[in-house]
Amino acid sequence: MSLGMNVSHLKVLIDESQLRQRTRELGEQISRDYEGRQLHLVCILKGACVFLADLMRYLPLDISVDFMAVSSYSNSLHTSGEVKIIKDLDSSIQGRDVLLVEDILDTGLTVDYLLRTLHARCPRSLRTVTLLSKPARRIKFVEVAYVGFEIPSDFVVGYGLDYQEKYRNLPNICILKINE
Ligand code: IMP
Ligand code: MG
Repeated sequence: MSLGMNVSHLKVLIDESQLRQRTRELGEQISRDYEGRQLHLVCILKGACVFLADLMRYLPLDISVDFMAVSSYSNSLHTSGEVKIIKDLDSSIQGRDVLLVEDILDTGLTVDYLLRTLHARCPRSLRTVTLLSKPARRIKFVEVAYVGFEIPSDFVVGYGLDYQEKYRNLPNICILKINE
């Protein structure tokens, strides 16, 4: 595959079949937990869009979807700790069973901020599913109900995750080694 860039510094960490298998398992678990209820999925753009698209097809529930965009990284490999809402939700979450869908939990600052913000809007319940988690990087402890994979502290791209807006289209999760 030619992406118009040097891909020799990408190493597959989680391949397509592992992603599919784990996403299906998460879907089954969430479906059991929310059986008979309406579930409102809040996807955090842009990184979580691929995960959401796959996960929701493993949720045979009465679901609705909304999107929120935040920025916590200013095109760098390191978090600034600052979280800004770039695009807010279209509809109210008051009284609804809300599941926040994230791509990766790194320092925890983004999800911590989002949970506090969404909590203040009085949902009936509020939980988080994240595809990836880097426990060794955590600054803020956040309670996450569903975790796909715990991974090492390396910077990863693919399956929605980017480095400077690139690599989101890779079908698997890869470790990105940057020569700077
Ligand atoms: P946190 O606030 O440090 O937990 O960072 C969460 C956000 O940073 C995620 O939603 C991602 O957008 C981004 N992020 C953190 N680690 C990585 C990574 O390894 N690759 C790509 N994006 C990352
Ligand atoms: Mg993100």
